[in-house]
Amino acid sequence: MAGDMTRRGPDGAGPTNQGRCPLEGVCSYERSLARSRTARRRTDRPDVFTLHGREWDLLDDVFAPPFSPSTGVAMELLGLAPGGRPVTQGAFLEVGCGTGVIGVAAALTGCDRVVATDINRNAVRNTALNAVRHGVSGRVRAVHSDLFTALPAAERFDTVYWHSNFVMAPPAYRYRDVHEQAYVDPGYAAHLRYLREAPHRLTEGGRVLLHFSSRGNLAYLRRCLAEDGRELAVVDASTVQEGPDRVEYTLLELI
Ligand SMILES: C[S@@+](CC[C@H](N)C(=O)[O-])C[C@H]1O[C@@H](n2cnc3c(N)ncnc32)[C@H](O)[C@@H]1O
Repeated sequence: MAGDMTRRGPDGAGPTNQGRCPLEGVCSYERSLARSRTARRRTDRPDVFTLHGREWDLLDDVFAPPFSPSTGVAMELLGLAPGGRPVTQGAFLEVGCGTGVIGVAAALTGCDRVVATDINRNAVRNTALNAVRHGVSGRVRAVHSDLFTALPAAERFDTVYWHSNFVMAPPAYRYRDVHEQAYVDPGYAAHLRYLREAPHRLTEGGRVLLHFSSRGNLAYLRRCLAEDGRELAVVDASTVQEGPDRVEYTLLELI
């Protein structure tokens, strides 16, 4: 993983630098789209990579964990890295599975049923490949879906989770390719659908989690949720130096 990392303990109130996020600097959607283009086209993009001691397949046009610390940090915050205490058990729904490392690691560390969805068909194939690679294809179902749309209405989960495209793009922005969809969310339309629909997919006592970052606009999401009487609480956080940016990643829970 790149850069130095500072773990922040759970504090409920959340980190201070996510209150304001202008569409510039660390939060710039244009810089995130540039990161997307670079990660998609890099000549050293591997077919197989290692993360947290395991090897994983990487297909074309899928979010590449070797080029961003976000996935590795997400696994640590979920307790899915070696030596961690998994915060997930039972039935786990991972929205936006990408290569599938999180969903597959959840199955390997004790979740008895994992459903992994992505709007990118290559990500769905990639997740199925990694489930086979790690011998958990019987417990991991990869589904092509825009958030929850392709899931049976009655299916319920103990945890619903998304490592999201947490950078806000202007509402009128139109994706040029599916890889960009891993990086930015125009007007946070997908985030707001996720946060409003995910509670309907839970078992009694289940949790809705969101992996977010100081590249995103948490204050905006909180204002929208306040209208529904909901809030996003910080479960855990970790700060990483990424090139010129100091980026805080947070595991948030919808309460
Ligand atoms: C930041 S990437 C995370 C990928 C993977 N979970 C990881 O940790 O490496 C966000 C993922 O969300 C997916 N995504 C974006 N919008 C989506 C939507 N409306 N429905 C399902 N997946 C979506 C993207 O295709 C991408 O794979």
